[in-house]
Amino acid sequence: MTRRRRIYEGKAKVLFEGPEPGTLVQYFKDDATAFNNQKKGTITGKGVLNNRISEYLMVKLGEIGVPTHFVRRLNMREQLVREVEIIPLEVVVRNIVAGSLAKRFGIPEGTQLPRSIIEYYYKSDELGDPMVSEEHITAFGWATPQDIDEMLSLALRINDFLLGLFLGVGLKLVDFKLEFGRLYENDEMRIVLADEISPDNCRLWDVKTNEKLDKDRFRRDLGNVEEAYQEVARRLGIFPEGGPRDMKGPSTMQ
Ligand code: TMP
Repeated sequence: MTRRRRIYEGKAKVLFEGPEPGTLVQYFKDDATAFNNQKKGTITGKGVLNNRISEYLMVKLGEIGVPTHFVRRLNMREQLVREVEIIPLEVVVRNIVAGSLAKRFGIPEGTQLPRSIIEYYYKSDELGDPMVSEEHITAFGWATPQDIDEMLSLALRINDFLLGLFLGVGLKLVDFKLEFGRLYENDEMRIVLADEISPDNCRLWDVKTNEKLDKDRFRRDLGNVEEAYQEVARRLGIFPEGGPRDMKGPSTMQ
């Protein structure tokens, strides 16, 4: 049996060497963590659903001209992606007050923001992903002012598009987190959307009831966690054909 080289293991995904140079295989696990790894658990079928949901959203974003690392889905839990140099920032876009923003300023969750807000966090588990300003980003050399402009304009385009897409299936896109990478091609560098877009890194509330259909169900012990991920996939029209039985995926990873 050929064993693939494991390049990186994160909390929810594993990256393996891809079949061609410049590619990686992104494997989606069922593992879930919250509060910087203090809370750990498993959401059965999450990997399969997030693989599908992220594929669906990245393909749609690609169609409107947003460059992404996504190449194609390979199987239930894996997708082929372009190898990029990850910019060590979490770019958070917020439309409605929730989570850490609600806590930081004492504003009730659910308050509509007058305009979308973008925040940057430095990706560092040891430091607990501290919030940073553009000054920190440029002074510490994590990204140039041009990179920041590019990420900001991509994040706003992504937000506009996803707001409409989710509204069309009865979901409010409250907030979400993006990661970007640098793709080097023929002596040129392009910033592309990387990582994943899924209920792990979006807040999605039902339009009518405000029911939470995202990872907050796990973070806050709200129950029906698996069902929430399934519901998002179902509304997007991409629930695995065979139903939940299809979601176990391979039990062993090569
Ligand atoms: P926050 O309100 O906890 O700052 O989260 C904002 C958004 O970012 C929310 O949609 C969840 C997502 N997020 C991640 O994807 N990873 C993280 O580590 C954190 C803290 C938030």
